[in-house]
Amino acid sequence: MNCNCNNNNENLIAILQKAQEESGWLSRETLERIAEETGITLAKVIGVATFYAQFRDKPIGKNLILLCQGTACHVNGSAEIEAAIREHLKVEEGEITADGLFTYNNVACLGCCSLAPAMMIGDKTYGKLTRESTVKILDEYVGCAVPGAPPPEVD
Ligand code: FES
Repeated sequence: MNCNCNNNNENLIAILQKAQEESGWLSRETLERIAEETGITLAKVIGVATFYAQFRDKPIGKNLILLCQGTACHVNGSAEIEAAIREHLKVEEGEITADGLFTYNNVACLGCCSLAPAMMIGDKTYGKLTRESTVKILDEYVGCAVPGAPPPEVD
């Protein structure tokens, strides 16, 4: 019998990514449905979903903030940016703001170290951040006419 374990893993990761794209996170019910539809054991589906950091096991706000805490960003003041986010949005790391607009997470290198300190909100990257520019960016998201729609990028 040919195992194809790597192919199965890659397919399962792609399925989990697609499911997470649709709802923002992976509920127990979603994992059970994936197991049922693919014939992969629930234990295996849960194992993969919990192994990779990219998969979330709880809901997120409309906008996901990923603040880089990698070396370059740390050296260039990510602690100040973190303080600005926490104070301005009144949110702790890994939590959703009371209005449901943001989830704030710290991450390792975002891959744009020349822009340090940097963060992403959704699929937009913001760099060379200061306390002031961070608050301005956050306020633009709060002020969006369409909730969750990203504002224009800020230099
Ligand atoms: S260390 Fe922050 S983007 Fe690389």
